[in-house]
Amino acid sequence: MADIFEKIKANRGPIGQHAKESHGYFTFPKLEGDIGPHMFFRGKKKLNWSLNNYLGLANHPDVRKADTEAAAEFGFAAPMGARMMSGNSNYHEQLEAELSAFVEKEDTILCNFGYQAILSAIDCLVDRHDVIVYDAESHACIIDGVRLHMGKRFVFKHNDVEDCDKQLQRATKLAEETGGAILVITEGVFGMRGDQGKLKEIVELKKKYNFRLLVDDAHGIGTLGAKGGGAGQEQGVQDQIDIYFGTFAKSFALIGGFISSDEQVVEYLRYNMRSQIFAKALPLPLVKGALKRLELMRNHPELKENLWKITNALQSGLKNAGFEIGVTDSCVTPVYLNGSIPESTNLIYDLRENYNVFCSMVVYPVVPKGMIILRIIPTAVHTLEDVEYTIDCFSKIVGKLKAGEYMSDKIAAT
Ligand SMILES: Cc1ncc(COP(=O)(O)O)c(C=O)c1O
Repeated sequence: MADIFEKIKANRGPIGQHAKESHGYFTFPKLEGDIGPHMFFRGKKKLNWSLNNYLGLANHPDVRKADTEAAAEFGFAAPMGARMMSGNSNYHEQLEAELSAFVEKEDTILCNFGYQAILSAIDCLVDRHDVIVYDAESHACIIDGVRLHMGKRFVFKHNDVEDCDKQLQRATKLAEETGGAILVITEGVFGMRGDQGKLKEIVELKKKYNFRLLVDDAHGIGTLGAKGGGAGQEQGVQDQIDIYFGTFAKSFALIGGFISSDEQVVEYLRYNMRSQIFAKALPLPLVKGALKRLELMRNHPELKENLWKITNALQSGLKNAGFEIGVTDSCVTPVYLNGSIPESTNLIYDLRENYNVFCSMVVYPVVPKGMIILRIIPTAVHTLEDVEYTIDCFSKIVGKLKAGEYMSDKIAAT
């Protein structure tokens, strides 16, 4: 018989197996100072492109003031208990109403974490007779929600509408046998490649099949749509998204999330979603903080305009300099390179230590062997000079990569 601790010692997991060499530098790095484009890493100032602080709200003076005042007024304990039992407040309800208007839905339920919201909503919406159809590159929270599902599921190739159609055919046949319903799940923006989910095309399939659509718009809320209402608004199909999810962890620069839908659906979620019924409500400073951020999003369109000015300059500059950025049509900007894992770690080390540019790197097993993605997240508070400097640095490091300079382990900080 095995022992759990012995098993863990023998197998540290796909990322954990590298913890010894990577901890504190490539994994669990500490970025210090005020959140923004210039932060400190190991005591040195870096140009930072690794945070989803899209609108630059994290360090906005009005946000900092509202957060401080709310923390002083309420503390972080209030309200105590789950919303259903003793943890409700006027501010929670006000935020739900304002979010509903923002994403053009009848009602909204606040959730403590985005991850938990999606997972728990999926669990709550379907039973064992129902069938889930979902995108193959869905975020881990969707995958975990699908894992909780007791019925059948069909996965379609990433953003492949033809395959989605095929899976819907299979799902329909099965649902007719079980007497169940179909839930299709996709994302507004896929966080690695930056491509928007094909929402317009997927909702077209409603003419052929009977299903409800759940969209995880973690990266779309605040960044896409004429009024910042997300990918559905951007694609003109917000009214066809049956269940809309947004997180506070990105554009809002906060923590928590929400699900918006028809009034009766949200009421059902309020009374049946296990992660909310059996967990403490969001603390009031977070709720008041979210209200302030939403007010800024509504009243200051220049935040989103700046974000897109930087995004467009970055993406067109990278393309003009010969970089491969793939199929992104959002702010998420991946730069695709080829190289081994040792080369990628040397490259990142050089970029951080000698060029003072900090961005995230994605390598195998998240992407195929031999591929390196440098993932750049532009924000409204970056400048065009930051963009120009970064493209210049990237050109230099890619020159070194191609010349084989990162093959040795002798890259040192100057
Ligand atoms: C697509 C997507 N969905 C859900 C989440 C989870 O949201 P949260 O960080 O609010 O738990 C994330 C990451 O933050 C995400 O990128």
